[in-house]
Amino acid sequence: MGSQTAALIARRVRELKVYCELVPPTISPQDIQHLNLKGVIVSGGPASVHDKRAPHIPDWILKSELPVLGICYGMQDIARCLGGSVARASKREFGPARVNHNKNTLFAGMPNPADVWMSHSDYVEKMPPEFVSIASTNSVQNAAITNNHKLFGIQFHPEVVHTPQGTDLLANFIFKICKCAQSWNPETIVNFAIRTVRSQVGDAHALCALSGGVDSAVAATLVHRAIDRQLSCVFVDNGLMRLGEKQHIQNTFQDMNIDFQVVDAQNKFLKNLTGVTDPEQKRIIVGKTFIEVFEKVAQKIGKVDFLVQGTTYPDVIESAGIGHTSKTIKSHHNVGGLPKKMKLELVEPLKYLFKDEVRKVGRELDLPDHIVNRQPYPGPGLAIRIIGKVTPQRIQTLQRADAIVLEEIKNAGLYNDLWQSFAVLTNTQTVGVQGDDRTYGYVVAIRAVTATDAMTADWARLPDAVLSNISRRIINEIPNINRVVYDITPKPPGTIEWE
Ligand code: XMP
Repeated sequence: MGSQTAALIARRVRELKVYCELVPPTISPQDIQHLNLKGVIVSGGPASVHDKRAPHIPDWILKSELPVLGICYGMQDIARCLGGSVARASKREFGPARVNHNKNTLFAGMPNPADVWMSHSDYVEKMPPEFVSIASTNSVQNAAITNNHKLFGIQFHPEVVHTPQGTDLLANFIFKICKCAQSWNPETIVNFAIRTVRSQVGDAHALCALSGGVDSAVAATLVHRAIDRQLSCVFVDNGLMRLGEKQHIQNTFQDMNIDFQVVDAQNKFLKNLTGVTDPEQKRIIVGKTFIEVFEKVAQKIGKVDFLVQGTTYPDVIESAGIGHTSKTIKSHHNVGGLPKKMKLELVEPLKYLFKDEVRKVGRELDLPDHIVNRQPYPGPGLAIRIIGKVTPQRIQTLQRADAIVLEEIKNAGLYNDLWQSFAVLTNTQTVGVQGDDRTYGYVVAIRAVTATDAMTADWARLPDAVLSNISRRIINEIPNINRVVYDITPKPPGTIEWE
């Protein structure tokens, strides 16, 4: 229903080892035929059920025998659809609350009262026929409702960390009410992916864009397991990689008996990026150039029908804007629309996986730790970490700064604790003094974040000594940089990458 936490709900369910997919309210039974559906969770959302254009739970779901759990807006919509009424409170309720519940199965094992997190203006005023209230708070009479059969609604948010026992509630719903089995684990994910890839590709040939990141490495290894020598892997050297990256990737994949080649396209990328400063333009250009290069490689290899990509679920969610109101924030270069003329069909074995799941799959496939535990790296590479124009000299400067950041973070033993840590080259010049001289150099920003997936993140509280080493080394070792700043913006409202 467009909630910012909709993907988080899916994550929570998957953490309980049950497969969960995020779909829009326009979903039809045909769309999910393949899913062996056991239950439905209807998320919250920014609309009011009274809005003309508000999204609604499809009729077929309410008419089915499937258990349904409506959260916040989802609950209000269930009530509205089934003949109850929803009213608007005079004041928005936002923050912690305590619910007293009547020990319904949904609350099994939870303390009474239980601490929960509320965020709503509307509330269920009159219950639909056959529904009863099973929990209330000081301000909300119907904080949880059920028809004592399979339909449930809760006004609070079990998916957020501020509802400490929220996962227990979700577990009650999916195991005790939906009767799901815990079958979503790395082994089943791998087997499922291998089967899917085999049936998609048949005996055709596939090409994989290997970038060296966790995602493409895991995708390539999975597809290699599925179709062996029908897969060729290509590493495009776009000149936008970190220092020493090409060599590192080459060494790693040559050992794995995968058909692997490096294509040098540095000049082409640089030329296409000349003079471009707009972040979206950069992303689009890098994406398009990738595809062009691939098409050429594919032609050379001969009969290739498929392109393997390490697209993951957050990429899909962020780019496609699943849900009613989610806006496209950035065009991820690996999910952007393919030009019509491109005749390669996409194989995306990680498309429904969150990052932690991708890593688990990588371990299941025996990929080495230094690949599986790598911090994510964006497809458009340094192009979106250089603010303003991308030139060979600016790339070199950033590569050196970035290498220092990573070296110091690794030396401090912090690499695996951070989701990402990197340098950004800004186009801001400031005055400094080095020796007896006035300098007018560029500012480098350090970004280090913690996260469990990239949908939300917080800035890392790096020790002073680490920040100090990074700053001192960057300024001493890199000409033309005379100031280092640390980015203390969480996501949201910031994004992880600067562009
Ligand atoms: P943002 O900046 O949107 O980034 O908070 C979220 C995560 O995605 C990575 N990222 C990308 N990954 N292609 C990718 O494969 C892209 O175009 C892209 N842009 C951002 C980013 O590094 C972070 O982990």
